[in-house]
Amino acid sequence: MCGIVGYIGDRNAIPILLEGLKRLEYRGYDSAGIAFYENGGIVVKKTVGKLSNLESKINGHEYRSTIGIGHTRWATHGRPTETNAHPHCDCSGRVVVVHNGIIENHALLRDALTSEGHVFSSQTDTEVVSHLIEKYLVEGKDLRDAVLRALGEIKGTFALAVISNLSPDRMVVARRSSPLVIGCGRGEYFVASDVTPLLRYTRDVIFLDDNEVAVLDKKGLEVFDVESGCRKQKSTYHVTWDADLAEKNGYPHFMLKEIHEQPQAIRNTWSGITLVNGKDGLEWRDLNLSRDEILNLSRIYLVACGTSWHASLIGKFMIESLARIPVEVDLASEFRYRSPLIDKRTLTIGITQSGETADTLGAMRKAKAEGSKVLTICNVVESSATREADGVIYTHAGPEIGVASTKAFTSQLVALYMFALFLGRVRGLVSDILFCKFISELKSIPESIERVIERESEIENLANLYWERKNFLFLGRGVTYPVALEGALKLKEISYIHAEGYAGGEMKHGPIALIDEDMVVVALVPRNSIYEKMLGNVEEVKAREGTVIALTTLGDRYLRSKVDHVFYVPKSNDLLTPILYAVPLQLLAYYIARNRGCDIDQPRNLAKSVTVE
Ligand code: G6P
Repeated sequence: MCGIVGYIGDRNAIPILLEGLKRLEYRGYDSAGIAFYENGGIVVKKTVGKLSNLESKINGHEYRSTIGIGHTRWATHGRPTETNAHPHCDCSGRVVVVHNGIIENHALLRDALTSEGHVFSSQTDTEVVSHLIEKYLVEGKDLRDAVLRALGEIKGTFALAVISNLSPDRMVVARRSSPLVIGCGRGEYFVASDVTPLLRYTRDVIFLDDNEVAVLDKKGLEVFDVESGCRKQKSTYHVTWDADLAEKNGYPHFMLKEIHEQPQAIRNTWSGITLVNGKDGLEWRDLNLSRDEILNLSRIYLVACGTSWHASLIGKFMIESLARIPVEVDLASEFRYRSPLIDKRTLTIGITQSGETADTLGAMRKAKAEGSKVLTICNVVESSATREADGVIYTHAGPEIGVASTKAFTSQLVALYMFALFLGRVRGLVSDILFCKFISELKSIPESIERVIERESEIENLANLYWERKNFLFLGRGVTYPVALEGALKLKEISYIHAEGYAGGEMKHGPIALIDEDMVVVALVPRNSIYEKMLGNVEEVKAREGTVIALTTLGDRYLRSKVDHVFYVPKSNDLLTPILYAVPLQLLAYYIARNRGCDIDQPRNLAKSVTVE
């Protein structure tokens, strides 16, 4: 995790670094720092806590520098203290480093460097990098060579930016597994962990690949391979999406804005998918999956983390029911350390909003190494997942800034639904007529979400009633069971209330023991083939004095007399109900967290993009 930024050019670097860190705060926010070159020396400023603390520390000083680096941290090694905050210096204060990733052999390197006389001041893994660079600079190398030699000794993952007052006109940056993007201006370069901070300055960017080092100075940029030291040619990518999408646009929180953006986000998802009639029938342009491969598929693995894992659980229902291919859903962190049965007829799909989640990338790499074709369903163009997969389905939901995922989730569901329909069509299981019916049902979903959002105040009222409760249980069955998991996760993440998602039928095997007058149960009861079964579960809760908030299909008359509150959701085809039922649960978590005064967009201990294991 963590976000890094850098600037070299003619402007004052300090405001550019602070502004860039603001855009990256979603990656970590337990401490922050910047370092810059001024009057022949390196100045380092850092603080614990949010970026605003760092800004207060710097405000009132007239710092000016044309080269600097910055960091916002999510602690992995060493507590979130000022000493452990980045940037990290060598012994002499002449080399400074910001780092995102994990140096796996840091303990060994620290011991060796200490015995050579280096003095460490933090508990971080990163500090070994500054001392290693110092060691090789002292031996007379220039900054690039010193960084290359240091990287040669490092095991693990990194996105790094390094400056030194011994080489004040250049910055060296490097990447292995953690993302790093360079924005190219006229006579200036901007560096960041993702594209967002760069867009206010330039749309021309270079994505560093693994094991690449770039040397930046005002005159130009050179990229080298870490291992061979050979020069590499890189092409510039022109970013087309609008920077305004990453602003709050009058909403109090990104999360609320992103909940409201869902109708448009999911329209964008299907519009970005190009289905054409090829010579063998329907083709999905850019998917890189042939008709023969689809016909031969024996099994699909969906691998993901967090909310994307919940989308995968729903994807299993979609693919198995529309395409009749067995689907296994794995937490990426589990998949990578077990022995899944993989062969050439296996397809693995990494589902990831950011495309940078370390466990999901690890699972995708494992599947690929064992012979599986690998696709990704991803929201971030040119992220690691999209560059490593054999084929990509972009969700096109636009930048998602709130740590708790909302629009990325529902757009993943749309992508999975389209993919399942496509597989079913190619395998001859979905007729022309059915295909058109299913697509037109999908196309009615944005309007149905708008109908749900119009009644947002009903959810806000429920939040006003129950925000002080300590426990919530979310119940669903079938395709809404993963939605119950997602509802519970949303509430936990942003309001810090204990919440569990459970399959209705499992309640009698444990959670029913928890039900009393203090328990709030949110029951997902769409009018589908298992409506009666869910009714049974609702009765069980009411018989034990629990409070029930039921979500059911518009037009239902029965539930109102049985439960404490009903929220009506427009009717849809069963496979699409998760999209519509997710929205009120997102709003419920949002308003409860707001009433509790929680930091909604940046919940404690969490980060948007988990780029470490
Ligand atoms: C973090 C975020 C979650 C997200 C998960 C997976 O935990 O806080 O909101 O669902 O990572 O992220 P990905 O980018 O791979 O979908």
